[in-house]
Formats: sequence, C-alpha cells, structure tokens
Amino acid sequence: MNEMPGRLSSFNSVPAAGAGMQREPQQTQPASQPAPAPQPEADHADDEAADLARQPIGVVLDVAGSGSQVALDLERLNECMDHDDPSIALAGQVGSQIKIRTRDGWLLASVRNQKQDRRGAGNSVVANIDFMGEGMEERLTGKIHSFRRGVTRYPIPGALVYPATTEDLRQIYSSDGRSAIQIGTVYPTSDIRAGMYIDAMLGKHFALLGSTGTGKSTSAALILHRICEAAPQGHVLMIDPHGEYSAAFKNYGMIFDVSNLQMPYWLMNFEEHCEVLLKSSGNDLQNDKDILAKCLLAARSKNRLAQSMGKITVDSPIPYLLSDLTNFVQDEMGKLDKATNTAPYMRIKTKIEELKADPRYQFMFSGMLVGDTMGDFLSKIFRMPGGGKPISIVDVSGVPSDITSTVVAVLSRLVFDFAIWGRNEKTHPILLVCEEAHRYVPSEKNADGNSVGRVLSVSYTHLTLPTSDLV
Ligand SMILES: Nc1ncnc2c1ncn2[C@@H]1O[C@H](COP(=O)(O)OP(=O)(O)OP(=O)(O)O)[C@@H](O)[C@H]1O
Ligand SMILES: [Mg+2]
Repeated sequence: MNEMPGRLSSFNSVPAAGAGMQREPQQTQPASQPAPAPQPEADHADDEAADLARQPIGVVLDVAGSGSQVALDLERLNECMDHDDPSIALAGQVGSQIKIRTRDGWLLASVRNQKQDRRGAGNSVVANIDFMGEGMEERLTGKIHSFRRGVTRYPIPGALVYPATTEDLRQIYSSDGRSAIQIGTVYPTSDIRAGMYIDAMLGKHFALLGSTGTGKSTSAALILHRICEAAPQGHVLMIDPHGEYSAAFKNYGMIFDVSNLQMPYWLMNFEEHCEVLLKSSGNDLQNDKDILAKCLLAARSKNRLAQSMGKITVDSPIPYLLSDLTNFVQDEMGKLDKATNTAPYMRIKTKIEELKADPRYQFMFSGMLVGDTMGDFLSKIFRMPGGGKPISIVDVSGVPSDITSTVVAVLSRLVFDFAIWGRNEKTHPILLVCEEAHRYVPSEKNADGNSVGRVLSVSYTHLTLPTSDLV
C-alpha cells in the first residue's frame, strides 16, 4: 500500500516512472528527439519509434465503474505527437484510445475529456477515460489478443497508461467472422476496417448520438444502405421529419409523403383519436372523451367485419365512415335533455368536419381510405413484398405539425403491433428508424418549456423480433 503514493507523487515525471518498466531503461530523454540519430541507422530510428510507444504516457489516478481518471504527462504526449503511427500520435487526446496495463493483459479505454492538472508544475493533464474492454498480452510479441468488450478486472490507481498503437487497434477491431457491414475505417488509422455486426446491432435498440452537424444523418443513411445491400429482402421503415433521405434512397426505397402515404384515419386507436379530435382540457376533455369513445365504438361496430368478429373495442383497427361518427355524435346530442350542454358534441362534430374539408389532412382523412384494409396498408408500408425496395421512407415534413406526432405514433405502433400479433406466424422482423426521435419522446422538461438539447438529436432505431431472418 505504501508504494502507491510514492508512485503517484513521482508521476510528474512519468518517463522516470517508465524507467521502472522492464523494456526501456533510461532512454527517454535522448529518444524524444530522433533528429540527431545517425542517418544510416534507419532501423535504429524505427526501434526508437517503437520504444516511444512502449513507454507510459500517464498513470491511473482514480477508478470507478463506468470510467476513470488518469493523469497524462504533457512532455510524453508531445513526444508522441510526431510519431509516424497516427494512433500513437493522437495518444491521450480527446477521442483517442489508450491502454492500461493490468496483471495479465491490457485494458483499453478511450479519452473523454482533458483538463489541466493544477496540483503539479503544470506538466500534466488530467483526463477522464471510459473503459472499452480488455485483451490478453501475447508473451513473445507483446501484442494484444482475445480482445473483448467489458471489464472483468479493473486497474488499481497507479497502473501505467500507454498509447494504443495501430497494431492494437487492428486486434481490437478485427472481425470474428460474424456477418458484418463495413462503414468506414477506424479513426485515426487509414486501413483498419470499421465494421458492425448487423445481427447483434439489429437485435437490440441502438441510437446514433452527436451534436448538430456531426454527421448523424449521413451515418444513418450509410448504415441503412449497407443493411439494404446485405438484406435486400429485409423490411425497414424510416420516419424522416425533414425530407432529407429521399434522394439517398431513390433506388433502394419507396418514398412516401403526403401525396402518396394514404394512411387511413381508422388505424388510429382511441388515444390517438383523442389527440387529433379533442382540443379541450380539464373536465371538458374527460367529458369529450366519454362521448367520443361511445360514438367511435358505435361507428366501428357498423362495419360488417366488426359484426363477424363479435367483440371489438374502441381501439380495434376497423374501418368506419367519418360520416357515421358525426351521425352518432349528432344522435347522442339529440338524446340530451334541454338543460344539458351541447357544446362538447358540437366541438367534436366541428373538428371532424374541419379535418374532412382541409386539403392538408387529405392524406389521412380522405373518405376514399375507408375502402382500404389494414393488410393493404401494412404490406405497402412494410414492403411486403419488397419488390427490391426493402426500405420505405415516410417523409412527414409535409404533414401538418399538429398531427405529426400522431402520424409517427401510429406508424411506430403498427410496427410494434405487427411484431406482437404476428409472433406465432412466420413474420419478418422490421427495422424502425426514427430520425430526431427526441421530438416524439414526451419529456417532462419539454413540458416546462426547456428544450431538449440538440445532443439528443438521434436516429433512433428499433427492431422487433429476432433478426436472423433479416440477414
Ligand atoms: N464522414 C464525413 N466526412 C465529411 N463530411 C461529412 C461526413 N459526414 C457528414 N459530413 C458532412 O457534414 C454535414 C452534416 O452532416 P449531417 O447532416 O449528416 O449531420 P447531422 O448530425 O445529421 O446534423 P443535424 O444535427 O443538423 O441533423 C453534411 O454537410 C455532410 O455532408
Ligand atoms: Mg441530421
């Protein structure tokens, strides 16, 4: 235990701490300037460069579950900056990867942020790091192998920090043979393929996060392109609030917007009907809801399908005529005693008439849509059969803003319901991609008027059912 403070206090000159390491005794200072190295001995210069990578750049200060703090030696970071290996040259900087020696291998971590270390003489910086995973060390060569995500054994404060080399990154990011898509190269190297295991990725929810302009949409388009190439028979539904994806998916996808979406209003469940039709609040809202529930159920029950099904609810996606709904509201109003207030009935009736008449709402509230069946709509929107276009882009930029969230809710719910109700059938998994998902996520903060930070601007993807069918 006494050893640790000693090490920490001697950290301000990490190279000296490094001198304690087995590989490079006392060569740190001269090695920092390769310029004086004699010309003919190129090999010697190479050795020096390699040794530079084998010396520590810092020490672990603080260890916690999610991440830790390390102190990095500025002099060593500057030495590394001239290194030919881009990964070593970037060592210690924000976004770079570093490795920490553990008893029988290496822990890999990435640097999250840096700040000046005010305790010492100003020659070190303190950085927060996030652990990525761990690997074993090959005895003879010192290379990392068997890298895997997660940490089983944390380092102890005082453990030494080293730059991760391109060779290390190659080991870490090498594919293990599962089906993967390539999306680029691992920064800062230029030749290590950055891949994603599609089955693993699509098997759970995933999000692309980044502040504005960092390339989220571009990455989402790239990933979807790769997925479509790998699984042309797949089913992807993307909700595109700004109409920015149609150009990217002209060949791979069907583009739906207000001109051809034709989303039947009767697909909405009761809650969604309330969102669209009822604008009152408090007691009035409850009153309106009761009336709407009664009339909606009556209108849906008129359908022959409903009669053959027996028991239906207000939420059942059974086509009904908007005129039936207004007629039932009218009838209910007629049954009132004179003293009772007719305002709620009038409110609902007026709103329905408004939606029917407004051309902006025609993609959803057109009388023509009653003839469609749910199956028609699902096969169109979920690309079943896909006809070589596995992705449908629903461009909601032209949808009137007061019902945008309802349209998105209906589409998302359909994906979910389809997966739940089709559980026992041989159905296909559907990937739902939602650009700027935070717009549709109810947030307490939003209600207060504080905006959700743009950092949350995400491409939210949601996949239902196991994915092995998709790829
Ligand atoms: N890998 C890349 N290399 C160079 N430029 C890129 C890269 N990725 C994206 N860009 C460019 O960066 C700009 C912003 O990209 P993009 O629209 O994808 O960002 P975004 O994170 O979706 O932004 P927003 O938050 O505004 O939606 C675009 O002009 C795009 O061409
Ligand atoms: Mg974007």
